[in-house]
Amino acid sequence: MSDILLVKHPLIDHSLSILRDRETDTSCFRRHAGIVSQILIVEATRCLRTRARTIQTPLTSCEGAALDQKTVVVPVLRAGLAMLMTIQDFLPDAGVGFVGLERDEETAVAREYYQKLPEIAPDDQVLVLDPMLATGGSLDDTVTILLKKNPGSITLVCVLAAPEGIARIQDRYPGIKIITAAIDDHLNEKKYIIPGLGDFGDRYFGT
Ligand code: PRP
Ligand code: URA
Repeated sequence: MSDILLVKHPLIDHSLSILRDRETDTSCFRRHAGIVSQILIVEATRCLRTRARTIQTPLTSCEGAALDQKTVVVPVLRAGLAMLMTIQDFLPDAGVGFVGLERDEETAVAREYYQKLPEIAPDDQVLVLDPMLATGGSLDDTVTILLKKNPGSITLVCVLAAPEGIARIQDRYPGIKIITAAIDDHLNEKKYIIPGLGDFGDRYFGT
């Protein structure tokens, strides 16, 4: 079974409620999407390997640490870009790849329109950024693409996840970790997450 980490934090509860609120305007939506993304990314990088490093402070020397594992981040276009902005503050050296997928409004089946990935080594940790895990189709396709590159690990980082999408990923890819701020109730007949927050990309980019 793939791992699920539901991140509980008062700042997430607060920001997620603002994201869900239909009255929230674009600038406020962006700010709180950034806060939730930052907390999720802190959790997603918790197991990154470090090595010891001796450093000189202005007063003495002491043992410190340096990151010793490469991270590659893959935002799923377009909404995943919202999370990329925040991860670059934490991991300015991370490789960045892009997968562009768009759901058909009638069928909710995702169509790939773009793909550009960096080299990925067997030791690398890949973080896939997609705020919404609904049917799981977009992340299913993204994982299929990434597995061909044989990364060390793949972690899916989502703001909201629906049980249907979680079940699909768990069924298709045992061992892949999902980190999310909330597991919602179900999908409606148009495959939107309920209660959800609507269309994340439209609300974040003000479309
Ligand atoms: C949204 C969202 C996910 C996808 C999730 O993208 O950002 O990528 O839907 O749905 P799924 O789990 O059923 O595949 P959308 O296709 O609306 O494109 P956008 O990011 O350009 O808005
Ligand atoms: N994509 C979104 O942006 N919202 C949903 O509820 C489902 C897919």
